[in-house]
Amino acid sequence: MSRAEALIHHAAAALVGITGLAYFWTLWLAELPADEFGIGVHPLQGDFQHFHILTAPILIFASGLIWKRHAWARIKEQHKKHRRTGILLATTLLPMVLSGYLLQISVEEIWREIWRWVHSGTSGLWLLAYGIHQFERTRNQKA
Ligand code: HEM
Ligand code: HEM
Repeated sequence: MSRAEALIHHAAAALVGITGLAYFWTLWLAELPADEFGIGVHPLQGDFQHFHILTAPILIFASGLIWKRHAWARIKEQHKKHRRTGILLATTLLPMVLSGYLLQISVEEIWREIWRWVHSGTSGLWLLAYGIHQFERTRNQKA
């Protein structure tokens, strides 16, 4: 992987990861404003949702960029280093992307609930695996 490809990937992961976590916070964790009409939505919810949806294609592009020469090549050649987190990154990618889009086009509440769980679960795992994948790399460089 070239330096530029790695940097694009890191930037995309940071943008999509941070906006996704921030959107999650506005949906489920933050204190929501209330008035005489009941509980409202967080004032930043729309902004984070828009940034998340707009930055998501950059991560899909970055993943495609390194798929053949990095991820698939290493899986095929039985590369040992960083294998577990690499395979976790590769296998969570598709359900993470699909569930994101399915969440947007689903109307029935049961399907929205299913895709919400699949998206939050797979993207949380992907983000964790990404962090460990990079941590292993810096640890190996120092050793
Ligand atoms: C780093 C990884 C990511 C994290 C942490 C993350 C997190 C989240 C969270 C928490 C939600 C809200 C789910 C809910 O309603 O409770 C969401 C929604 C969404 N995500 Fe992601 N996501 C990530 C990656 C992606 C990717 C790669 C895509 C590309 C397709 C994507 C597309 C979407 C879309 C379209 C929505 C629905 C927005 C809406 O209409 O409410 N996400 N994401
Ligand atoms: C879609 C899946 C994958 C993604 C998104 C991914 C992403 C990355 C990124 C961004 C780097 C850092 C490059 C840098 O900053 O120089 C990296 C390094 C590395 N990855 Fe992956 N990776 C994936 C799959 C794999 C697999 C399957 C393996 C091994 C079986 C693997 C092994 C490594 C190793 C050994 C490094 C250290 C630096 C190097 O030799 O290039 N990765 N990966």
